[in-house]
Amino acid sequence: MNSKIFLLVLSILASVVSSESIDPVSSGATPKLVENITLVDTQNLRHEEEYARLQTRLGRESQVWDGNHPRQRLLTALYGFRQYQERHIEEVQRWRSLYKKVSKSQRKTIESTIKYNHKLNTVEHLIEVNDELAQEIVQTGLHFYGISQSELDEFSADQIREGKKADRTSVAQAMKHFVRDWADEGRGEREESFTCLLGQLIEMEREINAPLKVLVPGGGIGRLAHEIARLDGFEVSMNEWSMYMNLAYRQIMREPIISNSQSYHPWLDWWSHHATTSDMQRAVSFPDSFVDKSAVLLVEGDFTTVFNGEEGQYDVLVTLFFIDTARNLLTYLETIHRLLRPGGTWLNLGPLLYGTAPFLQLSLDEVISLARAVGFEFEDPGDVCGDVSFNELPVRSKEISYGRNVRGLNRNGFLAQSWRAIKL
Ligand SMILES: C[S@@+](CC[C@H](N)C(=O)[O-])C[C@H]1O[C@@H](n2cnc3c(N)ncnc32)[C@H](O)[C@@H]1O
Repeated sequence: MNSKIFLLVLSILASVVSSESIDPVSSGATPKLVENITLVDTQNLRHEEEYARLQTRLGRESQVWDGNHPRQRLLTALYGFRQYQERHIEEVQRWRSLYKKVSKSQRKTIESTIKYNHKLNTVEHLIEVNDELAQEIVQTGLHFYGISQSELDEFSADQIREGKKADRTSVAQAMKHFVRDWADEGRGEREESFTCLLGQLIEMEREINAPLKVLVPGGGIGRLAHEIARLDGFEVSMNEWSMYMNLAYRQIMREPIISNSQSYHPWLDWWSHHATTSDMQRAVSFPDSFVDKSAVLLVEGDFTTVFNGEEGQYDVLVTLFFIDTARNLLTYLETIHRLLRPGGTWLNLGPLLYGTAPFLQLSLDEVISLARAVGFEFEDPGDVCGDVSFNELPVRSKEISYGRNVRGLNRNGFLAQSWRAIKL
């Protein structure tokens, strides 16, 4: 046995006898018992190690106890899902009171034809149905992260006392990603983006025994990362900052993972663009296919800092609808460059839709110039990623949607930009 394997077995045995050994169900580890020795493959070992690091970051003493503390961000997101029903019903009540502004005689016509009150009642009922999923997400999260119900209750009571409302939008956005990433309805949208990225990854030279290390920052709830892991020869990590997204991801990875075993009504919170009321109220189920939860390692936290110490460790970075989330886009470019090994590849696909307070708002040509200045050389990603954006830029454009309701009457799309850049 070489020293590396020996150390590995020692550390596993230590974790087996330790009272702090982590719950294999939560960690994604599936120990294989051979007589009285527990053997865990390297895939599961990296899950265990990351879980231990996560618990350290979640410790109250890990940093100043304020809204940026990982445990407070987690509790805030748990509080968000916990209040799902209350926050969504509030909105329906607002619609009810607006409906009262319609004259009595008009309401009579409306009720005798389309029964608007019935629609409001049904939506309230379906919000209660959705709340069952939201509360499951809370329970899965409490179990996975090792947070007690009483800690969450206490945190929630404090929030309510301080008049801090749960963030309805972040909860709704994270739950909408079940459709984008893990429902059959999202298949078309996924194919629009994934063909370009997976098509390039498939072409990369690699070996099963020495897989290429891939990182997917801002990975949302993980479908792209899992699709990459399904291609042989890649060891995939993903990263995500939002605890709302991370809780939704943990829900997908909850055992037992059975295809289409979970369902909810994703389109209740926005009444625009529906062809029929039953379209708006329809249920969507997920996950649409088998998920190997140990195939991808989720590293939670801010992409620009959580990988400190992993300089040059990755062969490939894949960013999908991510780079425009930066407050400081140059810091993203520098981080991508820093984490790649020399000769490593950065694949990008996404728009330039800046948020509310970015330090920099760059046009495409400026992003390319800065990336070159940081130390990237651009290669043509090929026709699979669309048409050449501009003659003088090594970038392709493809019309792609994000979070689309396939039965909706709207078609919001982006001319997503894709490039392949090599670290010099
Ligand atoms: C537009 S979403 C795209 C998610 C996913 N890539 C997809 O295509 O569905 C951008 C994601 O980046 C995450 N994000 C933003 N800033 C981040 C940061 N500094 N570190 C890690 N993730 C971040 C957001 O929470 C969000 O989930």
